[in-house]
Amino acid sequence: MQEKNQKSIKKVVILGMGGTIAGLAENTTDNVNYQAGQVSVADLLAGLGAGFVESLQNNKIELVTEQVAQLDSKDMSFVVWQQLLQRLDFYNTQPDVMGIVITHGTDTLEETAYFLHRTISANKPIVLTCAMRPASAMNPDGPQNMRDAILMARHSSANCVMVVCDGAVHSAQDVQKDHPYRTNAFSSRDNGVLAWIEEGHIRQLRAWPASQAILYRATQKILDANSHMHWPRVEMVMNYAACDGAVVQALLAQKMDLAGLIVAGTGNGTLSNDLALQLDLAITQGIRVGLCSRCALGQVVGHQKQAEYEVIELSFTKARVELILQILNA
Ligand code: SIN
Repeated sequence: MQEKNQKSIKKVVILGMGGTIAGLAENTTDNVNYQAGQVSVADLLAGLGAGFVESLQNNKIELVTEQVAQLDSKDMSFVVWQQLLQRLDFYNTQPDVMGIVITHGTDTLEETAYFLHRTISANKPIVLTCAMRPASAMNPDGPQNMRDAILMARHSSANCVMVVCDGAVHSAQDVQKDHPYRTNAFSSRDNGVLAWIEEGHIRQLRAWPASQAILYRATQKILDANSHMHWPRVEMVMNYAACDGAVVQALLAQKMDLAGLIVAGTGNGTLSNDLALQLDLAITQGIRVGLCSRCALGQVVGHQKQAEYEVIELSFTKARVELILQILNA
């Protein structure tokens, strides 16, 4: 009988990556001067509240924590992405795991979310969450975000990578950090949120996105490799008033094994003549050039130079992740 009860217990795995959600300041009123990635993911559970944990236990749900990294996400590295993907790959196939929550810093969260969206074929909800106030704050936003993320992780039909913050559920494809301070720091750009979480209920507005983890060779390389794996170098440049292309020229002169460039064009992907000249030179050297717009919303539409530049219909930061994965996949 006891064995039967044991078998029916389901797990929600919480992977800790650091960030403000695990941050500590010297003063409880200080929401800005803090050290990210200080509190262990196991200790973050204390903020969930006894009533919440009890209701999980009543539903035979166990929370399992694992510290994958403990960093300020401004310092996110390929090695950490690789470790995260390897752990996700493990938990994604465990039948007793209902869903996975990842506590992550907000600053590069959209890049990690997109990286996972393209590399893991989710069998269950994979929910990144975060906070804009450190754990030491008088009113931290992390505990509510974690409760909401756990709720999403239990929502069995949402087999995709999502981001939960401030009551909103964003797709990995659309999510973008828009604000450096407010607790509702994220938007879903033009497409709008997938759902709202209100008092423990999910109000779904859009279909859960289908997996886009189809760059199989890239994924396998990352999963199989050790930490010395060679990741292609893809740098980012931008067009702006009086842009003379000197940054690209300097990058080419460095001979630093540059594999790709993402260029954020002005408006609908336009480039100054001088920048275009340097980018054309880069292409002749075998460097792939991906073009997107520096505008906060929208994407490059009907660009005339499509044959030369690869128009990537993503935000500037995600376009770089996409090109890295495409190069790895080639
Ligand atoms: C970080 O990205 O790790 C620090 C900032 C944050 O989480 O808001």
